[in-house]
Amino acid sequence: MKETVRGVVTGVNGPIVRARGLQGIRMLDIAEVGPHRLIGEVIRLDAESAVIQVYEDDTGLKPGDEVSSSCRPLSVHLGPGLISNIYDGIQRPLVDIAALQGSHIRKGVKAPPLDMKRRWHFTPVAAAGDVLAPGAILGEVRESESVLHRILLPPGLSGKLERLAGEGDYTLEDDIFGLQGMPDFRGTLASFWPVRQQRPYAKKVSAGAPLITGQRIIDTFFPIARGGTAAIPGGFGTGKTMTQHALAKWCDADIIVYIGCGERGNEMTDVLNEFPRLTDPRSGRPLMERTVMIANTSNMPVPAREVSIYTGITIAEYYRDMGYGVAVMADSTSRWAEALRELSSRLGDMPAEEGFPPYLATRLAEFYERAGCVETLSCGEGSITTIGAVSPPGGDFSEPVTQHTTRFVRCFWALDKVLADARHYPSISWIDSYTEYIDEVRDWWNERDASWFDTRREAMHILLEDDRLQQIVKLVGPDSLPVQDQLTLFTAEMLKNGFLQQNSFDPKDMYCGTAKQIKILAIIVAFHNEARELLSRGVDLKAITSMQVVGEIIRLKSEVGDHEVQLIDEANQMMKSQFSALNAEAAPAGGGNREGAVAP
Ligand SMILES: Nc1ncnc2c1ncn2[C@@H]1O[C@H](COP(=O)(O)OP(=O)(O)O)[C@@H](O)[C@H]1O
Ligand SMILES: [Mg+2]
Repeated sequence: MKETVRGVVTGVNGPIVRARGLQGIRMLDIAEVGPHRLIGEVIRLDAESAVIQVYEDDTGLKPGDEVSSSCRPLSVHLGPGLISNIYDGIQRPLVDIAALQGSHIRKGVKAPPLDMKRRWHFTPVAAAGDVLAPGAILGEVRESESVLHRILLPPGLSGKLERLAGEGDYTLEDDIFGLQGMPDFRGTLASFWPVRQQRPYAKKVSAGAPLITGQRIIDTFFPIARGGTAAIPGGFGTGKTMTQHALAKWCDADIIVYIGCGERGNEMTDVLNEFPRLTDPRSGRPLMERTVMIANTSNMPVPAREVSIYTGITIAEYYRDMGYGVAVMADSTSRWAEALRELSSRLGDMPAEEGFPPYLATRLAEFYERAGCVETLSCGEGSITTIGAVSPPGGDFSEPVTQHTTRFVRCFWALDKVLADARHYPSISWIDSYTEYIDEVRDWWNERDASWFDTRREAMHILLEDDRLQQIVKLVGPDSLPVQDQLTLFTAEMLKNGFLQQNSFDPKDMYCGTAKQIKILAIIVAFHNEARELLSRGVDLKAITSMQVVGEIIRLKSEVGDHEVQLIDEANQMMKSQFSALNAEAAPAGGGNREGAVAP
């Protein structure tokens, strides 16, 4: 047991506190500062003094106040009971929604992150006498209907299991297991892990499957692989938070860790009000049963915002190690970077670009590096998919946070102000966005539909052609374009309205399953190809674009539910017969020669 060391405050600069006399304290140890014993972390150290970043409001703190430390690193408490919880940046439970809205947590409150009195039903998997490697499975606890919590031997421990509790109900304080040669050790259902340290795994593996989000533009055009990284950059009001919420609600991860850092408190309140009422489209269970929230909203202390993403990602790693697919959303990494900037300027660091500290890039890299698909120590494959919102001032993507982020993420969902202003949602640009995961997810999709890759490519081609043609249209108007190009503009419009746009408030369309995505995309591309064919036979473009089925295709997304995709096949039949009718009308007039006449 480490002893407590004591010192005194020598200087206070906002949340940055200098202290003297803390013999033996190390970097990143936690300290309790002042009469309220505010939680802080040692971020600089020299022979005489320690610099402590305080995670709570330290108004009133003064030189001479006492500082103490038990010389332990800032850690999260990991165990059953994390799920459905909402924490601040240093893992204090925000039991009350009101806590988010301004009435701060009282200074120095030491609420335990996990309910220490609640009993959990434990079923052993290992047995006394087993020789266990670090991370081995000791047993299981059903944490929620959706989550089976595997109790693992903490990664730092190994050896012969001397005793293990039998099946029964235990609190997090109860002695559950012991290891040979460690007579003083009492293993419980919970454990601690330092937030700034990655948890170990066996090795990184490649994903091979996409994280399905139910958002068409993402899944179809810019998919992210499980274990991947993505950024959502966008100016104010372009839909970053809405997109993060949609992903948190609908993506097919087993566990969601949602980190609201530096954004408005009412947005987190929305999540808290909405999530308990929503059900997972796969399991039919409440979404909260697989969600952990970390909230460090704009009204909370800045240093706690800095640490909140580490708290979040450490919890994510903990569930990954049980073999789960975890998705981490951080909204917004720019507010987090601003916290870094504020703290580094108080420390008197030499600023780099736009006042950000020189280590901004390293910190961003470290955050995204903790994503990935891994072979865990004992539970097969697990993954962390990390999705960070970026809010560049003025929507200017050339600023440092966006620029550095692009170096570390492999998926970029660029939000477009023009689309948002036109109320085209999600306003993810199909021109500026990209993904590097196509090769990784291609087989997965092709197993569901062999033509997926080609259909997607054809649709993308239509959209890119449209973008090029729009430049010409601006100069000379649409009517001077060849009919084939006019058709491209028309089909692109169908793709935008009938496929890319997806309203998060439309009950049938807020989530779109993969089968529905494939079928809608295929019908629009088939329309385009049929129409091209007819145009080349001399059929009037107007006759094609005014076909009754066109409107129906555009409405499919909000009229057809995920369990009635056969209705899309019916629309396809209808389209075919309407095309046949047009063809029949055209055939007698043009005859067989017409085709030759038009062909180049
Ligand atoms: N997918 C969507 N469906 C419907 N409305 C949306 C969608 N995305 C954004 N919006 C609208 O845009 C507004 C701003 O979005 P928000 O996510 O709060 O922006 P940001 O976080 O980028 O500032 C929302 O309140 C909503 O009205
Ligand atoms: Mg927002």
